[in-house]
Amino acid sequence: RPRVFSGIQPTADSFHLGNYLGALRNWVPLQDTHDCLYCVVDLHAITAGHDPKVLRQRTRVAAAQLLAIGIDPERSILFVQSHVPAHAELAWVLSCITGFGEASRMTQFKDKTVKQGSDRASVGLFTYPVLMAADILLYRAHEVPVGEDQRQHLELSRDLAQRFNRDYGKTFVVPEPYILRDTAKIVDLQDPTSKMSKSASTPNGIIELLDEPARSAKKIRSAVTDTGREIVYDPEQKPGVSNLLTIHSALTGTPVADLEKQYEGRGYGDLKKELGQVVADFTAPIRERTQAYLDDPAELDKVLAVGAEKARQIADQTLRTVYDRVGFLPAR
Ligand code: TYM
Repeated sequence: RPRVFSGIQPTADSFHLGNYLGALRNWVPLQDTHDCLYCVVDLHAITAGHDPKVLRQRTRVAAAQLLAIGIDPERSILFVQSHVPAHAELAWVLSCITGFGEASRMTQFKDKTVKQGSDRASVGLFTYPVLMAADILLYRAHEVPVGEDQRQHLELSRDLAQRFNRDYGKTFVVPEPYILRDTAKIVDLQDPTSKMSKSASTPNGIIELLDEPARSAKKIRSAVTDTGREIVYDPEQKPGVSNLLTIHSALTGTPVADLEKQYEGRGYGDLKKELGQVVADFTAPIRERTQAYLDDPAELDKVLAVGAEKARQIADQTLRTVYDRVGFLPAR
């Protein structure tokens, strides 16, 4: 079966609806058709400053949420990135075939350094996409389910795979991005011109999977909508309303065109109120299941240990091949 790899950073107390609708909801059904590896990428989570105690807790919370949405550790390999040393090791090799200019063109890095200032941005943040390429290439993944914001990073992964294969012999699979068209970019409720983001959005701009239902409903009620009163899908003219329709449609499975009909002649208030309920119904069980996994951290850690063991077996083999091909003397 073809292989899938994807990752998510443990950089917040909860995943948000952008993470879920853009990427995670795709992770679950892929388990039926692909061999899947899903990774909590804690190495990536230290690139922009962090608190050690908080990181450790968030790593568990991230893993618990993945189990809660339906990642099945019997069928998929669910693990924590730092448990598999080969990620950092391959990242080093790949960084030596990545151009400085090439890495400098990554827009996510540029956006973040504009915000943080180039003296505060770390070298780790700069090489972040190379580590991401290592994550994917180590497992020779064919498909990588992500949101639109990761497209450029995926492009770099493809380039590095092709370059390595050309220079050292066919070693890596060239991975394809798997991006859901309708929900590739969920936007901020308060600022519908930007994506919903763990790092950039205000608390009212994001809906967290682990939010209290009443809190999510309130955020949706205060979402920025547009002038005019018609509920129609028009991302250019009406990005706020369109975002609410996208979220509604993805969570209920109702096509957007049907929603437009349902809300004909009705006001934004109705849409927001009903969407609040839809979100609450969707998140409540995830919240409960996440808590249940967190109530037994020893069991959770055991699941992650099993995942790491399986991941290491695949990763170490690829890394050995890479080390051999680049000419490192075997350690005896
Ligand atoms: P991260 O942790 O920022 O986000 C996890 C996933 O959520 C998607 N996403 C969104 N999709 C739609 N709308 C949004 N507003 C939105 N915000 C986030 C992201 O595209 C992502 O798929 N670099 C990655 C983590 C990573 C990775 C990897 C992914 C590390 N190594 C290897 C795939 C393969 C990241 O920061 O995702």
